[in-house]
This record gives sequence, structure tokens and C-alpha cells, in this order.
Amino acid sequence: MAKLWAGRTDGTTDKLADDFNSSIHFDSRMYRQDIAGSMAHASMLGAKGIISQDEAMKLIDGLQDILDDLESGALKTDDGCEDIHMFVEQVLTERIGETGKKLHTARSRNDQVALDLRMYLRDEIDEIYTLTEDLILDVTDKAEEYKTAIMPGYTHLQRAQPISFGHQLMAYSMMLLRDLDRLSDCRGRTNVSPIGSCALAGTTYDTDRFMEAKDLGFDGVCLNSIDGVSDRDFCVELLGALSILMMHLSRFSEEIILWSSWEFKFVELSDSFTTGSSIMPQKKNPDMAELVRGKTGRVYGDLIATLTMLKGLPLAYNKDMQEDKESVFDACDTVKMCLKVFAGMISTMKANTANMLKAAQAGFINATDLADYLVGKGLPFRNAYKISGQLVAGCIKKNTVLEKLPLEEYKAYSELFDSDVYDSIDLAHCVERRRSTGGSSFASVSAQIEYVRGKIRV
Ligand code: ARG
Repeated sequence: MAKLWAGRTDGTTDKLADDFNSSIHFDSRMYRQDIAGSMAHASMLGAKGIISQDEAMKLIDGLQDILDDLESGALKTDDGCEDIHMFVEQVLTERIGETGKKLHTARSRNDQVALDLRMYLRDEIDEIYTLTEDLILDVTDKAEEYKTAIMPGYTHLQRAQPISFGHQLMAYSMMLLRDLDRLSDCRGRTNVSPIGSCALAGTTYDTDRFMEAKDLGFDGVCLNSIDGVSDRDFCVELLGALSILMMHLSRFSEEIILWSSWEFKFVELSDSFTTGSSIMPQKKNPDMAELVRGKTGRVYGDLIATLTMLKGLPLAYNKDMQEDKESVFDACDTVKMCLKVFAGMISTMKANTANMLKAAQAGFINATDLADYLVGKGLPFRNAYKISGQLVAGCIKKNTVLEKLPLEEYKAYSELFDSDVYDSIDLAHCVERRRSTGGSSFASVSAQIEYVRGKIRV
């Protein structure tokens, strides 16, 4: 096929080179943005008298027909074309004749591709934002359901202090809430129009970049044309935000995988979000969580690929930059899928509160509260800490737990112990007394739930 850019060369490239060079098989997904951008461009060219109003109308009508035909399936993108930008322009010229050739006045594919990508990604960000909100609401509902379910909180994966399952779940809601912030920050910097930067240096035509930007819903225009066509920091930023989001989902997945094991048995995933084994009849595998954990690596890969692709590029456009799209598309597709599956898995998950409580009762996780009890009786914390440690060691030797140790034995460690010690190490009380802001008390967890819900659309 003759190239639109034939001229300096005869445009007859080797088939291998053509296939290697072509991006239409992945950038055709930006056809709506490409056509909308071209319509705005034609309209600006007409308004500024760079082409006639009649020509502008003809271009816009022709573009609308191409859009309609692509939407209906009457027109298919042609893999023999280099990219979506060339395809649309070529079909337009085939359909409306010479006027089609005026569309590319005062623009370049370099600003066109940057424009399309920014428009495409701002929509993706909006979709990912909504899906993240949905997930946060599901996690928060689950937290409310299990607000009073006591479980061990861990450090070093060793039982540490009693918390509620609701408290643990709300930690993830808070993390995801910051992911929302990162997405909206990055949307702000993405929603700036590069169109009119042209190849790199701007244009000699009397264009109006602001008119075009406004028409396309941008908040502003890139104020340096070289920057406008050269940087893909908005892709990197989105990939960074998505990597962090996936890191959060991956940690959450890891816990769900652990909690679903026979060793923990804290949660039971719904049959609809688990799989069986082809050979072991007893198996119920948390494949969804494992896949989310696994796919996190691929999103990190997309980030690193893009950062590495950009790091050595001289300004302005280089063909290396065509590689930006597959990475960022893959990351968006992956994250959207993970968010949907994760939300389904979480909202159908059930906790085994009896097992959680049993685990909380067995690991001396109230030892800090025992020390705090002695502090309440006037002992400095370090001394209280030491006595509590000795008591734990004594219990382990006798194969018992703090709750079951008789008062006389407590008194052998310190005269400060009295019968109210049992109340102070009762697990529900231990949780309830952690009333510091953000702590595990039921009131604090309720406040966290309210805060998160208040941050999200209703
Ligand atoms: N397909 C190209 C890309 O994705 C479009 C820009 C091409 N510009 C150029 N000067 N070859 O980056």
C-alpha cells in the first residue's frame, strides 16, 4: 500500500519492516479519540480561516461517518496501515476526496498520538477510579460486618495484639483510598492538551490551541511544544499509581491466601470465586487471589518497561515511544480485571470468626495489656514489660495461658496483681480499650468506616 508519507522515499518498505513498524493492531483501540481529535482540529482550522468552513464541515461529516461505520462494524481497521492516525486520514481521503488531504494541516502524528493517548488514558483513569471506589465500598461493608470479630493482629507473621477483622480490613480501605488520590492527581496532569505542538516546534499557521483543547475537554495546553510531543510522564505516573494499587491488592491477596489455608482457616471464599484441583478432591484453591498477586508483577513490568524506554531518548519524538501504548494498555486492562474479580471475591467472602478468636486466645497476644495493667498500678513500663515477659515464659513452661493462671501465681510475680487483672486481659476489652485515633476499638473502626464512606460518592 502506498504510504501517506511517500515523497522523500518511494514508500515501498519491506513487508517485514512494515509489520515491525506498524502499531495499528494495538493503537486502533484509540479510534474514538483519534476521530474526536481530528474533528476538533478540523473545526479549529475552519474557525481560524486556515481552511474554509465548508471544508471543515466536509471533514467533520466524513469523520463522523467513519466513526459510525467503525462502531457498527461496517468498516474494519486495516492491518496493512501503519497506525490508526494514518488509517483514519486515508479512509477519509478515499471517501471525501481532496479535502481529506487538508486535515493534517498544522498538526503532526507526533502531537496527534500524544493527544489520543492522553484522551484515552483519562477515560481509563475514570473507569479504574470507579472500580476502585466500588472495591473500597465492598471492603468497607465487609469491615462493618466483622467489626467485632476478634482476631490476632500480626507482626513478623507472629501473633502480636488482638484486633478486630474489621480493623484489619479497614487498613486496606485506607490504602485504596490513597490509590484514588493518586489516580486523580495523575488525571489532572494527563488532562493537558499537546495538540498544536505539531511535529515539535509549533506551527506557522494562526492556530488556536486553547479552542481545540477546550473542545476536547482538556483543562489546559502543554506550554512547550517540544515537551508536548516528547514526554510520556503521564503514562509513567499512571503506571506508578497502578503499580502501587496492585501492590496493595497483592498484599491483600497474600493474606486471603493465608487465611484460606487449613493452617489458618480464618476465611472461606465463595465457591464462585475459587477453583478445584484436577486430582485432589479436597482442594478449594484461592486462584483469584493468586492471579491478582501474580499479575502485579506484570504491571510492575509495564512500569519498568516504560521508564526504561524513555530514559535515554533525546528530545523530541522517537519511534521508541510507540512502545508506550502496549505497556499502558496492558496495565489498565489488567488492573480493571483484577479490581472486578477482587470485589466479587471480597463481597462473597465469609469469615470463620470462631477460628479467628481461637487463634487470638492462644498466642499471649494480651501480654502488652498485662504490662499496661501494671503500668496502671504505678509501675514504669519497662519493669511492667519484664514481669509480663516472665509471666508468659512461666505460662509456656506450665502449658497454660494468662487467662487461666490463678491469682496467687500472678502475685508471686508482683504484689500489684489483683482480681481485676482478668478483666484487663480479656481480649474483647483489650480491643475495645484501644481508643486512640485509628486504633482497634469498635468506636474507632466505626469512625474509620464512616470516614471512608464519606470520601466516596454515594
Ligand atoms: N504510531 C506512532 C506512535 O505510536 C505515531 C507517531 C508516529 N510519528 C512519527 N513521526 N513516526 O508513536
